[in-house]
Amino acid sequence: MARTFKSKYQYSDITAKYYWLNRREFIASGLATLGLASQALGSVGDEYVLSAFSKSQFSTDQEPNSLEDITTYNNFYEFGTGKKDPMKNAHNLTTKPWELKVDGLCNNPSTYSIEELMAKYPLEERIYKLRCVEAWSMIVPWIGFELNGLIRDSEPMNQARYVSFETLVRPEEMIGQRRGILEWPYREGLRIDEAMNPLTILSVGLYGDILPKQNGAPIRIVVPWKYGFKSIKSIVRISFTEQMPATTWNMQNPREYGFYSNVNPNVNHPRWSQASERPIGGGLFASRIPTEMFNGYGEYVADLYTGMDLSVDY
Ligand code: MTE
Repeated sequence: MARTFKSKYQYSDITAKYYWLNRREFIASGLATLGLASQALGSVGDEYVLSAFSKSQFSTDQEPNSLEDITTYNNFYEFGTGKKDPMKNAHNLTTKPWELKVDGLCNNPSTYSIEELMAKYPLEERIYKLRCVEAWSMIVPWIGFELNGLIRDSEPMNQARYVSFETLVRPEEMIGQRRGILEWPYREGLRIDEAMNPLTILSVGLYGDILPKQNGAPIRIVVPWKYGFKSIKSIVRISFTEQMPATTWNMQNPREYGFYSNVNPNVNHPRWSQASERPIGGGLFASRIPTEMFNGYGEYVADLYTGMDLSVDY
């Protein structure tokens, strides 16, 4: 069994926690730290609590961005289009209770609570690089579990070739959804073999605690070799389909955003180069760094695209 450990990055080390951590959450995570939570994973009051998680072989050894970088520079259009809008507005989202429905072409459709998912699938810390299509990047210490276990347990039928994902629609709490900036719900999709790849995770936390709301609480996808918009936040539905599902940014502008959206320094966005990126946290004048094919994860994922022309299937 994998050794469990507590992240070396504790909230107490990080000043930005007040951006999203209210007093009740603080007490809950304190109880968990002291080992007083009644179960390994679950909830205290109306918040979720994470406890033990193991270290992953898939983590980068690069230094993570600060919690402040990760929680104050976000894309989450349900809460506005500015980078600081999610930090200001996402606290309005009720994340508990929450149901994640799994349906479509599978023999074992089901609806899970977050507590059920966290109890069923072992959590790991995955320190991944996130590369946004806007040409910035960050290193994030996610906590989550591989999506492939949930897919196997859902028993997809032979015709199922894709997996689609949907975010919650709740304009009362998601002020960005009161305007038609995007067609809601935010939707994403993966080919089933991409979704089964061990790098694809469902994240329920970061920096050793539950997921901040601006980062997609209570549960989001993280697909580190693809542009960040594929890593859909606050999901309520996973469906197995035969046809390639419609995806939000592709629906918005198919010429600019393809279904695959693998990080690729050789295929430029029609309006800017993808050859390099700006690491967040280095200050305004920090130098750009070269963008890596598949965001540096080629050894794990390049095989998925053998024989494909990635300038056509961008
Ligand atoms: N998911 C939803 N539901 N809505 C969004 O607007 N933005 C995407 C992605 N997931 C988005 C989303 C984009 S463009 C990026 S770069 C990442 O979330 C940003 O994740 P982060 O804010 O946790 O860094």
